[in-house]
Amino acid sequence: MSIQPALQHIPADLVCVADYERYARQHLPHPVFEYICGGGADEISLRRNRATFDQISIVPRVLRDCTQGGTQTHLLGEAFRHPILLAPVAFQKLAHPQGELASARAASLLEAGMVVSTLASETLENIAAATQAPRWFQLYFQENRDFTVSLVRRAEAAGYTRLVVTVDAPLQGIRNRAQRAGFTLPEHVSAINLSDRPPLPYREFTTDQSIVLQGMMSEAPTWGDIAWLQTQTALPIILKGVLHAEDARLAQSMGIAGIIVSNHGGRVLDSVPSALQMLPAIRRSVGNDYPLLLDGGIQRGTDVFKALALGANAVLVGRPQLYALAVAGALGVAHMLRLLREELEVTMALAGTPTLEDITDQAICKEGGMPISSLA
Ligand code: FNR
Ligand code: LAC
Repeated sequence: MSIQPALQHIPADLVCVADYERYARQHLPHPVFEYICGGGADEISLRRNRATFDQISIVPRVLRDCTQGGTQTHLLGEAFRHPILLAPVAFQKLAHPQGELASARAASLLEAGMVVSTLASETLENIAAATQAPRWFQLYFQENRDFTVSLVRRAEAAGYTRLVVTVDAPLQGIRNRAQRAGFTLPEHVSAINLSDRPPLPYREFTTDQSIVLQGMMSEAPTWGDIAWLQTQTALPIILKGVLHAEDARLAQSMGIAGIIVSNHGGRVLDSVPSALQMLPAIRRSVGNDYPLLLDGGIQRGTDVFKALALGANAVLVGRPQLYALAVAGALGVAHMLRLLREELEVTMALAGTPTLEDITDQAICKEGGMPISSLA
C-alpha cells in the first residue's frame, strides 16, 4: 500500500478522534504506525485504558440552565481555555515533516497547553516559539546530571513554565509489536535536544550482575534525584507516570506541584492498571485541592468528562496527536483538539453540568447503574 502525503483539508468523513487512527494507517509507513499505536508486551494495559472508560456511564441531569457555562480552568496557577493538553510525544517528525512545530501551532490556535518531550525531533526553543499557549517541558533524567541541568536551563530560558518529569519509563519496556514490525528511527528523525549529550562511560559487568538492574537502571532517577532537581530550578515540578496512591502522597509531601496519573499509554510495563482505575484512590490520598492530570485512552469528550468526574483536573492526549499530524499536519492537530473540546461542551450541556466544577462523581455510575466508589 502506498503512503499518502499529509492532506491540505479534513476529509468529510473524518468526524471524531478515532477516525484519525483509521486515516493515519494510510499516511504512515507500517513500522512507524505500529510503533505509535502499540503498547508493551501483550498490550493488556493498552486495552485496559480504553476498557475502563467504556465501563463508566454518564447519568445526565435535565432542565438545568447551562448558558453561563464554559470549559475554562486554572491548572497549577495558569489559565487554560479547556482542560485538554497535548501529552509529551517523542519524535513527531515520524508523522509529519514539520513535527513538533506543527503541533505547537495547533496548540496555539486552540489555546491548548503543550508538553514538549525531551525526545522531541525539533529544538525545544523552536517549539516554544511556535505557540502562545502554556508550554511545559517533559524531562527525562540523563545519566550525566550536568547535562540534565543544562536541559532544564534551556527550558527555563525558552519560556517553559513547568517541568514534567516522567518517572515510569527508566527503561523502554518490552515493545513486541514495534519489534515485529521492524521499527527503527529513520535517519531524518533524532532526539535533537540530546545531540551534544556526553557519551556514556564504558562499563563492564560481572556474570552475577544484571545488565538491566546494575546497568540500565544505574542511570535512572530515584526520589533523592527528584529532591535534588527541586534545588536546581524554580520551575514547579510535576511527576508523570504515577499509579500508586502511596507514591502520589510521597510526591505531594515533597512539594511536587502536581501529578500526571498515567501508564504511559500502556507502552512500558504491561499488566499495570489503567490510570483511570487508579485515579479515585489517588484523589482520595492527596485531597481535593492537589493538581491531578490523567492520560491514556482519551478519544472522546465523554472520556474527558469521565476523567474529570473521577477526580482529574485535566487530561492529555498522546497518540491522536501523531495520527492527526500524519493525516493533515497542524490543521489535523487543531481539528482533533477542536473535536475534543466541542465534544466536551456537548457532553457538559447534555449532562446538565455547565462548568468543570459541576462534573463530579454524582454525574457518573458504573455499568449496571452502581454508584462509583472505587474502580480498581
Ligand atoms: C509517548 N509518551 C511519552 N511520554 C513521555 O513522557 N515522554 C515521551 O517522550 C513520550 N513519547 C511517546 C511517544 C509515543 C509514540 C507515544 C504514543 C507516547 C506517552 C504519552 O505522553 C502519553 O502518556 C500516552 O500517549 C497517553 O496515552 P494515549 O493518549 O496515547 O492513549
Ligand atoms: C515512548 C517513549 C519515547 O513511549 O516514551 O515511545
